[in-house]
Amino acid sequence: MATATQTIPMEKSVAAYVAKPRLMLINGKWVPAASGKTFPTYNPSTGEILCQVAEGDKEDIDRAVAAARAAFDKGPWRNFTPSERGRIVWKLADLLEKHAEEFAQLESLDNGKPITMSRIADIPTSVDQLRYYAGWATKIEGNTIPISAHGAKFLAYTLREPIGVVGQIIPWNFPLVMATLKLAPALAAGCTVVLKPAEQTPLTALMLGELVQEAGFPDGVVNIVTGYGETAGAALAAHPNVDKIAFTGSTEVGKLIVHAAAGNLKKVSLELGGKSPNIVFQDAEIESAIPGAANAIFFNQGQVCCAGSRLYVEDKQFDKVVEGVSQLASKIRLGPGMESTTQMGPVVSEEQMNRVCSYLESGFSEGAKAVVGGSREGTKGYFVKPTVLVNTNEKMKVVREEIFGPVVTVMPFSDVDDLVARANNTPFGLAAAVWTRDIKKAHRIASELRAGTVWINCYGVLDSAMPFGGYKQSGWGREMGHEMLNLYTEVKSVCTPIS
Ligand code: NAI
Ligand code: MG
Repeated sequence: MATATQTIPMEKSVAAYVAKPRLMLINGKWVPAASGKTFPTYNPSTGEILCQVAEGDKEDIDRAVAAARAAFDKGPWRNFTPSERGRIVWKLADLLEKHAEEFAQLESLDNGKPITMSRIADIPTSVDQLRYYAGWATKIEGNTIPISAHGAKFLAYTLREPIGVVGQIIPWNFPLVMATLKLAPALAAGCTVVLKPAEQTPLTALMLGELVQEAGFPDGVVNIVTGYGETAGAALAAHPNVDKIAFTGSTEVGKLIVHAAAGNLKKVSLELGGKSPNIVFQDAEIESAIPGAANAIFFNQGQVCCAGSRLYVEDKQFDKVVEGVSQLASKIRLGPGMESTTQMGPVVSEEQMNRVCSYLESGFSEGAKAVVGGSREGTKGYFVKPTVLVNTNEKMKVVREEIFGPVVTVMPFSDVDDLVARANNTPFGLAAAVWTRDIKKAHRIASELRAGTVWINCYGVLDSAMPFGGYKQSGWGREMGHEMLNLYTEVKSVCTPIS
C-alpha cells in the first residue's frame, strides 16, 4: 500500500529563523559582516532562496581570531576544569537534543536531504559526538616516562595541552554533523575555535551557535563566521594567529589549505575526497551485499566522502548484483527534502548537479552505459536520478575521479591479486569494503587495501568512537575516537632530576 506523501509543516521557530538575515557569532555577539554584505543560501529542493546570511570576509575572520586568541590566552575558559569543560559540552548536546526537530527541518531545507534522514541520522549523530567528546574532557592524560639520561634519576612526564586557537572549515554534505565533530573534541581539549561553515549550508551551524550561547561558553570560545571559501576560508587558513586548521572538503582545496598554512606552520588535519572500492565476492551473502552496495552509494544522494562509488563484483555474480542494485535504484523515491516519503533528495546546489551531470556525459562519451538513471530529474530543484553505470574501466574519468553524486560504476573481476591492485589503483584511500563468507579472505584483503577504514560485510558504519580518515590523498590525521584528540592537543615533556 502506498504511503500518502505529506509535506512536513515548518515549525514556527524554523520559519521565523529563515525569515530574517542571519548574523555571525563573534566574541559572544551576533554581528553583521564588517562590509555589511550578505549572501543567499538556497533550498535545493526548489532552487529558491531560503535565507540571507552575513558574508564574512578577511576583516571578520581577523575579529573572530582576535576573540578566540584572547579567550584562549587570558579568558575564563583556561580556568575551566576538565570536568567543567565536559559538562558544558554535554549541556550543548542536551540542548541540541531538545531542539532536534527544528535542526532536522533546517538541515533538510538548507541541504535538501530527506527529513527522515536528518531525523534518524544527522541530528542524533551530532548529539552523540558531543556526548562522546564531553566524556573525554576528563580523560586526556599524559604518561610518566622512565628515562635513562645522564645516569641520574629523573622524574619525566608528558602533558597533553590544548593546541590553542583552532580554525575549522567544513563542507555541506553533513553540515551539522561536521560542525559538532569539529567543535566537540576541540572544546573538550580546551581549545578555542573559529568555525567556517560551507556557504551552501550555513544555517544549522549558526543555529547551533544560539545553543552555544545558551549552554554558557565564555565569549570568544566559539566563533562562527559565514562566508565563501576563497575569501573567509582562505583568510582563516592563512591567519598567523591560528595554531591549527582542521579541514573537511575537496582534495583540491585541501592542498590550498596546506600551502596557506605554511606561513606560520600551523598544524593541519585534512579529511578529503575518496573513490572507495566496494568488493563483492561470489561467496558473499548476496541478499545483504546488494542492498549494502546500493546504500553505499545512494545514501545522502551520494554526497558522502566514503561512498562506495567503485563497485567490483566477481564475474559469476556480476549480472545478478547489477540487476539487484539497479532495481533498488529504480525504486528510490526522489522528492523534496521536507516530504515525509522522500528517500532521496536533490543534490546540494545547481553547481553540484551540473558537476555530476557533466561526469555522466563524460562517462557516456567514453563508452559507459547507464542501466538506470543517467540524467537530471525534472526541471525544478537539483535532482539527479540514482545511476548505475556499466561498461566502465579504470581509464575512465567516472572511475578515477570523485563524482560526489548518486552514481556507481560497476566492474567485474576474476583474479583476486589483480583485484587488489585495481582497488588500490587510486590517489585516494579513505574507505573500502569486502563482502564474502570466507573469513580468511576477508581479513587478508582488509590488510591489503590501502584505506583508512575497511568494512567487512557491511558498509558506511561510522561511530564517534571509531577512528576515520584517509591514506594517500584522502587526508592527514584521524577523526573520531580518542585519536581525534591528538589533533587538538600538543604533547609537552617535563623532566627534573630527583637524585
Ligand atoms: P570545497 O572543498 O570547495 O568546500 C569545502 C569547504 O572549503 C567550504 O567551507 C568552502 O567554503 C571552503 N573553501 C573553498 N575554497 C577554499 C579556500 N581556497 N580556502 C579555504 N577554504 C575554502 O568543496 P566544494 O567545491 O563545495 O565541492 C567540490 C567537491 O569536493 C565535491 O564534488 C566533492 O568531490 C568534494 N567534497 C568532499 C567532501 C568530503 O566530505 N570529503 C565534502 C564536500 C565536497
Ligand atoms: Mg543551502
